[in-house]
Amino acid sequence: MNSALFEPIRLAGLDLANRIVVSPMCQYSADDGCASDWHMTHLGMLANSGAGLVVVEATGVERHGRITHGCTGLYSDHNEAAMSRVIDHGRRIGTAKFAIQIAHAGRKGSALRPWQGGGPLPAMDDPWQTLAPSALPFGPNWHVPREIAIDEIARVRDSFVSAAERAVRVGFDAIEMHFAHGYLLHEFFSPVSNKRNDAYGGSLENRMRFLRETAQAVRAAVPGHIALGARITASDWLDGGVTIEDAVVLAKALKADGLDYLCVSSGGLTAEARNPNAPGYNADLAARIRAEADIPVRVVGLIVDPKQANEIIAQGKADMVALARAMLDNPHWGWLAADVLGAEVARPPQYQRAGPKLWAGRALQL
Ligand SMILES: Cc1cc2nc3c(=O)[nH]c(=O)nc-3n(C[C@H](O)[C@H](O)[C@H](O)COP(=O)(O)O)c2cc1C
Repeated sequence: MNSALFEPIRLAGLDLANRIVVSPMCQYSADDGCASDWHMTHLGMLANSGAGLVVVEATGVERHGRITHGCTGLYSDHNEAAMSRVIDHGRRIGTAKFAIQIAHAGRKGSALRPWQGGGPLPAMDDPWQTLAPSALPFGPNWHVPREIAIDEIARVRDSFVSAAERAVRVGFDAIEMHFAHGYLLHEFFSPVSNKRNDAYGGSLENRMRFLRETAQAVRAAVPGHIALGARITASDWLDGGVTIEDAVVLAKALKADGLDYLCVSSGGLTAEARNPNAPGYNADLAARIRAEADIPVRVVGLIVDPKQANEIIAQGKADMVALARAMLDNPHWGWLAADVLGAEVARPPQYQRAGPKLWAGRALQL
């Protein structure tokens, strides 16, 4: 059986055993940005999911660049030490390589954890002044962000560099910048949220400027053997918002800036924006970016079934697939996919007796 999904792939100096990636997922379980015992369990578990790569959640480059008080950060020595503890553990016990997503939440920051209701932090919960390209809130009743000043743009760019340097010291195999889902850099890219009149607003070239300056500065700081990528948005799903044509232009520019891969996602810019609910809804957008910008592409969004994932790779729509909710539902999803597709996957020796060669029960389950 064809198992394109289990073909190895090389990104910069990084060899991945297969095309399956655990998508970054906020856990809202950090202590002033420091990864906790929950992260030891969660990431330790996903290190044995069968995925070639696990991407650690959106991690704030500044304390006030986080989404919630529970989000991880890489803005202090304590954060760096806590992340090192988790990643050292994951490497010791797991089969996957590790990446980290570094992010600034912009106007979607200063929020409650989802299980506390999501929305903006109330006055008694230590809210902070959010920043955005323009003083436009994410939605009704959200904090009104302050328009970020030019010198603060430079500071945030430098914070991305410093977080990337910390990520290199932690020992991550790949680093990716969050340019999607309505967070600060996406807010600059989209004409819906960016109404600036200076060099960072207006034309597409100007709206890409902050993203490109960040990409270039981080690239200069990250050694060439570490894969550097970004998650971008291929559509705002909004009238007047980012289109696939804009995303292709951005992808070409980021390739020229030295990025090794892109993850194609979409949506999340405003409270009313809705993503399509169709399986693999970003796959055709990813295919266009891959074909036109000629850069390795990962795709995410309602990829749940091993055959569906395999087809996306086999048809050349993307080079890798990322799964989020399906991995929470079944943290050994990669093992399931290997069994369904008749492929080999690395399992820790302690669990090998549940593999298809040693356990007839597996075949009975499929
Ligand atoms: C619990 C949870 C946390 C998430 N946190 C992040 C995040 O930190 N960064 C990010 O880019 N996307 C995040 N997402 C979005 C996912 O990475 C993914 O893009 C989205 O869920 C669609 O993929 P899926 O259909 O496989 O779940 C999160 C999703 C979930 C369910």
